[in-house]
Parts: sequence; C-alpha cells; structure tokens
Amino acid sequence: MIDIKKVRADFPILNETINGKPLVYLDNAATSQKPQVVIDSIVTYYSTFNSNIHRGVHTLSQKATTAYEEARIKFQQHFNTKKAYEIIFTAGTTHSINIVATGFTSLLKKGDEIIVSALEHHSNIVPWQMLCERTGAILKVIPMTNEGELQMDVYDKLLSNKTKLVFVNHVSNALGTINPVKEIIDKAHKIGAAVLIDGAQSCPHIKPDLQELDVDFYVASAHKLCGPTGVGILYGKEEWLNKLPPYQGGGEMIKKVTFEKTTYADLPHKFEAGTPNIAGVIAFGVAIDYLNNLGFDNIATYEENLLVYATKKLLEIEDLRIYGTSKNKTAVISFNIGKIHPFDIGSIIDKLGIAVRTGHHCAQPIMDFYNIPGTIRASFSFYNTFEEIDLLYEALIKAKMMLS
Ligand code: ALA
Repeated sequence: MIDIKKVRADFPILNETINGKPLVYLDNAATSQKPQVVIDSIVTYYSTFNSNIHRGVHTLSQKATTAYEEARIKFQQHFNTKKAYEIIFTAGTTHSINIVATGFTSLLKKGDEIIVSALEHHSNIVPWQMLCERTGAILKVIPMTNEGELQMDVYDKLLSNKTKLVFVNHVSNALGTINPVKEIIDKAHKIGAAVLIDGAQSCPHIKPDLQELDVDFYVASAHKLCGPTGVGILYGKEEWLNKLPPYQGGGEMIKKVTFEKTTYADLPHKFEAGTPNIAGVIAFGVAIDYLNNLGFDNIATYEENLLVYATKKLLEIEDLRIYGTSKNKTAVISFNIGKIHPFDIGSIIDKLGIAVRTGHHCAQPIMDFYNIPGTIRASFSFYNTFEEIDLLYEALIKAKMMLS
C-alpha cells in the first residue's frame, strides 16, 4: 500500500507554493518529481567521489566506476535482461531511439517496410522518417480508433515479408492508452521483424519483464522514473546490439585506435562514447531502488484509483470531453472543455497553483485525428492525492466561468 503522507514527505518540491497557492503537480507525464534520496545521491557524488569512470587506477575513479556499473546491474535486474551489458546508458529516450534508427541505416534497403503506430510521440516518428529518407524504406502506420486504441486488425494486414521493423510505445503520452505490446511483438516476430518498444510513458507505472516480452529493443528515460534529466536507457538483445554499428565515435568505445583502422569495444562501451552522465546514472539507480521499495503493484493500484476518481469527477463538468477512453490506460486524462482553447485554461489554473500540460503533447497526428489543436493533460503519479483532484476540478470550474 502507498502511505501517501510518508511518500509526499520524500518529495521536497511538493511543499512549494506557486503563485501563492500550494503546488498541485499534475504534469507527471512530462517529467516526474524527485525524492530527496535521488537529490542527495547527486550531491554526494559531486561532493565526495566525483571522478571519471573506467579510466583511473586511483581510488575515486574506482569508486565512481563501481557505483556506475552497479546501477547497470540494478537495471538488468529491474528489467530482467539476460546480460547487464545489454543495458546501454544514454541521454534519454530520444537519444536511445536515434541510436537504433541511425544504426539500421546500413541494414535496410529500398522497399523495406517499417511500422509505427498512430499513437506515437514525435520522437518515435521523426527518427524513422529520417531512416526512411536515408534508405528508401517505407513507413506504415497502425491507425487508431476513436477511443484511442490501436486497430489491431489493420496491424495484422500491414505485416508482410517486407516488414523489417515495428516501433510502438507501450503507453501513449497524450492519451494514456496501454498498447498490447506482447501481441504486437509476437506477431512481428512471426514474420521476422524486429520490435522496439518505447517505454518512456509506461516505465513509471508498469515494470516490464523484457525477456518475457521477448522485445528486441526497449527505451526509457530516467526523468520520468523519479530520476534526473539527461539520462536514459537503451536495451537491446545482445545479437542486435552486436549487429548495429556504433552511434558516436570517441573515447571509451574503442578497443584499438590507429590511423589505419579502429576496432570497437565490446558491449556496452561500444555505445557509450565519451564521459557519460555519471552522477545521473548513479542517481537513476537510486530512483529505481526507491520505486521498487514502494512496489510497482502498489503504485499501479494507487494510480488506478486516482484515475477512476478523477475521470468521474472531471466528467461532472459540463461540456468536458475526454480524449482517450481505452479501458486499458494509465493515470492520464487528456481533455477539453467546449471550444475553450486548452492554453487559456492551463494559464488560469496555473494561477491557482495547478500544473498541467497543454498543447499537442508532441503527438500532432493524434490531435489531427480528433481535429483539435491540443488538449489539457492531467497526468497523475503515486504522490498525488484525491484532494488535489478536487482542487483541479474547482479550478476548472472557475476557469470555465471566466472563459465562457
Ligand atoms: N514526452 C513528454 C510529455 O509527454 C515530454 O509531456
């Protein structure tokens, strides 16, 4: 069970006031807040053992290297990957996707097909479009329904022996829909296509078993998981990571350098050129421990209760329409009130201390589907309360009165 009072005490920012009102932070899909243990770990690293990793024989360097590599083991365990070196530390989900998309340039040919879904974030669309431009491959899209679910019967028809890659998110950032990723992966594998799952929005709520999913690539960002910004994960099955060329050349990713020829380091170093975000990776490891101590089942149950309560409450507001009504969704509510522009509502409720995201949420094709410029998105976390939902409701009523 989530002990909400105890949990909230772990997050110093939740005591802040915004425009003279207590902060009600409902923009967790954009980034999560950080518990004190994560903040402390960054301070401890810089104040007691800041040093470069994998490079020095001196004590500090060894201490930093050990802490960095221990974080990798934590993620191996968390995601249940076969090998720790299948976890690559990156700068975030977007960076991870670009490593894979760039790597596939030499592995695709003209006429090959790539499938994405209509529910993707721009970061899981644009790199594949760029890959298609480089290779002559063709991008196909699994369409969505009015409820914000994928049309799986169309997915079946899109799959063919031309399909080489399938890229979908586990959870839609704009609507919260949880996609049937196991089914998507199994069907793609039947015709020999590789699958990348974007876990950026699912990983704070769902702990995936990557071996059970049998996914080829999985990507996620630390900052959505109570960790720092500028750190992420690229998981790839060993055979895939060995097939892909390095994304960046530089220090740390080599075995031997001569002016005639360079050979590359083994995994994971082949993909970790340069000095990484050492403090960030260590803090990310602390964040995953924090979340595992709370328990992902406890988090999911608590957030589901928030979602049910908030959905019911917000639907009491006349003319409020929720976009994304899948039965299978995380605690995200995307909505509009009548014809009022989402930005106007977002600005007014900000004056009341409430933080939500407004706009297209980097998912313009979804907004085009609904023929709207954007939505107001309230996204909840395990440290939000039912009282905060009441405050959101009251603020929306006020904004509606002012703007109607
Ligand atoms: N991808 C993040 C969001 O959905 C930034 O808000």
